Amino acid sequence: MEHVMEHSSSTTEVWVLGATGRSGRTIAAKLVATGTMPVLVGRDRAGLEKVAAAIGEDLRTVVAPTVEAIIAEIGRQRPAVVVNTIGPFTETGVLVAQACLPSSHYLDLANDMVSVPALLDLHDDAVAAGRTLVTGAGFGVLATESVVLKLCEDRRTPSRVRVDAVPSLASEAGVIGWAFAATLVDAMALGGRRFDRGRLVRDWPGSEAKKLTLPDGQTASTGSGPTGELHAAWLASGSPSVVAGSTFVPTAPMIRAFLPVATGLLSVPAVRRLARRRLARVRMKPGPMVREHSWGHAQVTWPDGTSRGGWLRLGDAQIFTTAVAAEVATRLAHGDAHPGAYTPGAAFGPELAADVGGEFILD
Ligand SMILES: NC(=O)c1ccc[n+]([C@@H]2O[C@H](COP(=O)([O-])OP(=O)(O)OC[C@H]3O[C@@H](n4cnc5c(N)ncnc54)[C@H](OP(=O)(O)O)[C@@H]3O)[C@@H](O)[C@H]2O)c1
Repeated sequence: MEHVMEHSSSTTEVWVLGATGRSGRTIAAKLVATGTMPVLVGRDRAGLEKVAAAIGEDLRTVVAPTVEAIIAEIGRQRPAVVVNTIGPFTETGVLVAQACLPSSHYLDLANDMVSVPALLDLHDDAVAAGRTLVTGAGFGVLATESVVLKLCEDRRTPSRVRVDAVPSLASEAGVIGWAFAATLVDAMALGGRRFDRGRLVRDWPGSEAKKLTLPDGQTASTGSGPTGELHAAWLASGSPSVVAGSTFVPTAPMIRAFLPVATGLLSVPAVRRLARRRLARVRMKPGPMVREHSWGHAQVTWPDGTSRGGWLRLGDAQIFTTAVAAEVATRLAHGDAHPGAYTPGAAFGPELAADVGGEFILD
């Protein structure tokens, strides 16, 4: 292909797709810091070269103009591991993962209720190929999934679980960008979800509003949403009743009343496309973290009424995300996982969260 630039080929390579992005470039830098030379993959040659220069290494680049062209290159060059940071994962997750089988391990940063289960549905194909697919390899889903796994270790199946994500991150100057904007708009368009008596049911977005008192005494308000964390908590606990809250979901009564209207409007494809485009262009101002820590929280209740709560404390949620992804990529490159499709805690156990800087605080 004329538009594809390549310098060499190797089956031990770790490819970072979307390496010009906020997540991709930091994951690439973290891989270099721990001794893995990643291949930077994206559509913007100058941007990729700038990232390589900033990292300070002569990293190989693969430039391809579209996701389809990137997928074709994965099939042709068969890297050992593919790190997918090109959201929305509803559009890229399954396609890229399928292109990885039978040769490459795969991980992504998905945290929505559509792409996380869709990726996990590839489990049998991944087992047959002897490859591992990890979805949700970031703050979402690991910060809450790891706490659920800890609380449920060696216990009977609980009757009720609630998880809450309280991310705090420094923002850098620049536009929100297509990947993140489309992910947010699609989540809003999907509306709320929860597990009730073992079934995934619709819910009002932002319902189940909760005011949490964090272990450091601060407070945070969360509302329920259709996150990948919901699916991961359901799998990790086996509980028939699961709710996932996040500070990303607005809880103020005025906004909550408007959310179902927004969901209805965004179900119209033209409105959704417009909302994605508009949001992608919104400029963010640089700013510090709103809280000193980010938190993952889980409250697990058993049929006899016993209840346990726990927290994962960590720093900047975006830095944690890139640390999780880099660590998972390294472990996959070393062949340290069973074949199949998993969330990160299911693949490597809850201690993965501690290995990348999280600290458990359990009741
Ligand atoms: N699970 C978690 O906790 C977590 C945490 C952080 C982010 N995320 C998710 O991860 C994704 C990336 O976030 P981010 O903040 O890193 O976004 P970002 O800074 O906008 O980076 C996105 C990357 O994808 C590339 N890209 C976008 N559309 C493309 C296309 N059609 N073809 C080829 N490349 C394309 C961009 O390339 P250009 O530079 O050429 O535009 C850029 O390199 C988002 O979906 C976000 O929601 C999840």
